Amino acid sequence: MKIKKLIIGNWKMYPASVKDAKAKFIAIKKTASTLRNVQTVICPPFVYVSELKKLVTGHRCTVGAQNAWIENEGAYTGEVSPAMIKSLGLEYVIIGHSERRSIGETGELVNKKILATVKAGLTAVLCVGERERDIDGAYLKFISEQIKVALHGVQKKDLIKIAIAYEPIWAIGKHAVHAASPDDALEVSILIKKTLADLYGKDGSVVSILYGGSVDAKNAWEFLLKSQVDGLLVGRASLDPKVFGEILKSADQIK
Ligand code: PGA
Repeated sequence: MKIKKLIIGNWKMYPASVKDAKAKFIAIKKTASTLRNVQTVICPPFVYVSELKKLVTGHRCTVGAQNAWIENEGAYTGEVSPAMIKSLGLEYVIIGHSERRSIGETGELVNKKILATVKAGLTAVLCVGERERDIDGAYLKFISEQIKVALHGVQKKDLIKIAIAYEPIWAIGKHAVHAASPDDALEVSILIKKTLADLYGKDGSVVSILYGGSVDAKNAWEFLLKSQVDGLLVGRASLDPKVFGEILKSADQIK
């Protein structure tokens, strides 16, 4: 049963110094460590992971990764492997973020990353989402296809190691058209559940579903309450400990 809300902070390529990263993490941990009903995961740039990992105390506020490669070792300059991430004691890895897909990460590569991540015993947070919506609903087919491609070869027993984040590209980042509405997110969370049921039957229900895209202190509770999601993937707002703390606190109150 998914009791706790899973709130993941995707720090992308911020902040510019390790000193700042540590200060932000400590401030977030202060709030996160008091909340029983929330699992907080901060995914910083790789270079900060070890330093932040040293600051982890307890299980409520941990560190995750933003990406992983498809092999555990090899001649892959600049890449970081699932085995390396696992060896640092991390648990969560974001895979297939739209900002990576936009620089050439294909559905097939995302699928290989998912398989390698899960095989290493890590939880993969698979990101899916359409670039734009159309009145005919082609985006629904697109999202369901993204999921099918990404999960190709993932066995039922490994589904517990998968979370799916719905992140409509038009609602992400500072160039976002606007945030999605809780109803937009609800429609897709139902679609994700249906796609999982088509692929895996009842076993598909162990997969956690998250929403991401312009989540802030004002709208977080609405997504959690109205969109049938188990958590949130938060970008910009996760870099402001005060705002992120508000998001965490509202998640904690939702049963
Ligand atoms: P945002 O980013 O919250 O800044 O819109 C979300 C994401 O890209 O994961």
